[in-house]
Amino acid sequence: MADNNVSSTPPAENQNPNPNSNDTIDPNNSNETETSIDAIAQKVQDSMTLSKRHKFWETQPVGQFKDSGNPSLPEGPIEPPTPLSEVKQEPYNLPGPYEWITCDMDTKEMCSEVYTLLANNYVEDDENMFRFNYSKDFLQWALRPPGHYRSWHIGVRVKTSKKLVAFITGVPARIRARDTVVSMAEINFLCVHKKLRSKRLAPVMIKEVTRRVHLENIWQAAYTAGVVLPTPISTCQYWHRSLNPKKLIDVGFSRLGARMTMSRTIKLYKLPDSPITPGFRKMELHDVPAVTRLLRGYLKQFVVAPDFDEDDVEHWLLPKEDVVDSFLVESCETHDITDFCSFYTLPSTVIGNQNYSTLKAAYSYYNVSTKTPLLQLMNDALIVAKKKGYDVFNALDVMENEVFLKELKFGPGDGQLQYYLYNYRLNQTLRPSELGLVLL
Ligand SMILES: CC(C)(COP(=O)(O)OP(=O)(O)OC[C@H]1O[C@@H](n2cnc3c(N)ncnc32)[C@H](O)[C@@H]1OP(=O)(O)O)[C@@H](O)C(=O)NCCC(=O)NCCS
Repeated sequence: MADNNVSSTPPAENQNPNPNSNDTIDPNNSNETETSIDAIAQKVQDSMTLSKRHKFWETQPVGQFKDSGNPSLPEGPIEPPTPLSEVKQEPYNLPGPYEWITCDMDTKEMCSEVYTLLANNYVEDDENMFRFNYSKDFLQWALRPPGHYRSWHIGVRVKTSKKLVAFITGVPARIRARDTVVSMAEINFLCVHKKLRSKRLAPVMIKEVTRRVHLENIWQAAYTAGVVLPTPISTCQYWHRSLNPKKLIDVGFSRLGARMTMSRTIKLYKLPDSPITPGFRKMELHDVPAVTRLLRGYLKQFVVAPDFDEDDVEHWLLPKEDVVDSFLVESCETHDITDFCSFYTLPSTVIGNQNYSTLKAAYSYYNVSTKTPLLQLMNDALIVAKKKGYDVFNALDVMENEVFLKELKFGPGDGQLQYYLYNYRLNQTLRPSELGLVLL
């Protein structure tokens, strides 16, 4: 999942979002001792409830809160692989009325069923104003990379009506953590129908996908979530750049800043009509080797990043209409490919608005600058996104994105995205700028 806090604050309102967040104890306060004892008691209480709060995740090979910051624990797999013959051969039990299915995402019918489940039940923002609306083409792209396993596309149906009520997926990926490239599953699209929530179905879905991943002799996974679970490897934030500020304000995605009028706001976010970098063009099939080289070289600097080969780059980065867009800079003299930027398309349904039904959002994906300053490259990405009719351009604070976020008038979102690894320990929490991975 990408972002469960879709709403943004315009830069004009971002001056000091939480001035009280660093409260210190006032030495002149006669209640000081009381306050600090209270504070300590609260911390102990919090830590006890925290450790009791995750009945399921406590049983899994993931970093546990109690082990955070314990340098004696080694980095790497938490549990060794078990012999394949010892992996449970039958699916986990579901409550009586439900049955497992393997979803054939090659078929239009199955894609439509999955699309409908997610369009009605997947991630919403905290105020239930927007819900992700991954397109069918996007789902087929996201779920069928090189080497994908159909058995990792898992659904749950009601036996009698055959209605699809839950979903979870994995796709294979090689992910490097420091110097080690690990075969992993990227887990995504966990969704339980709204009417079946809080019945502990999610842990069964997670255990089943884990079992099917194990059957392929893969023992690690990467995933992201808006919720805090044991234990994030990094906590990242979404930033939003208005491209169509009037619509964003009309649908309640953003607010007019203090002392701002609509026309001043529109002017603030105005962009040139076409990219300014000479040699900036759409990526084509023949660019795959050069883009792969550029990207592999670039991603080396991050602690956790995908290990992309040419097949991966062709799948994940070659432009696909309304799914993924990629542009590069080709030197006019040498014809070398010196820079690259990309974004994927993930609209959100606007819930209950008279005038608008969807918000068209671009999400920054992988960007590499060697010759063109990153700021200029990303400004060109904004220009093409605006031209293609996107309402907003979103980016996480991962990789080197901090370099351009404020400067290009992105405003911080109000939620965080947590990154996780399953059965792999890192003994330090990573700064977002140490992460070179974007999950869809
Ligand atoms: C996420 C969702 C499937 C969880 O289902 P649920 O019915 O709310 O919760 P259940 O009773 O089945 O299971 C609760 C357990 O799942 C865990 N869980 C909840 N959301 C999770 C997530 N996104 N990833 C992993 N585990 C999650 C809970 O932490 C809890 O385990 P714990 O006791 O160890 O803490 C459901 O709320 C949903 O479909 N939400 C909308 C889509 C969404 O947010 N998907 C996740 C995108 S990352």
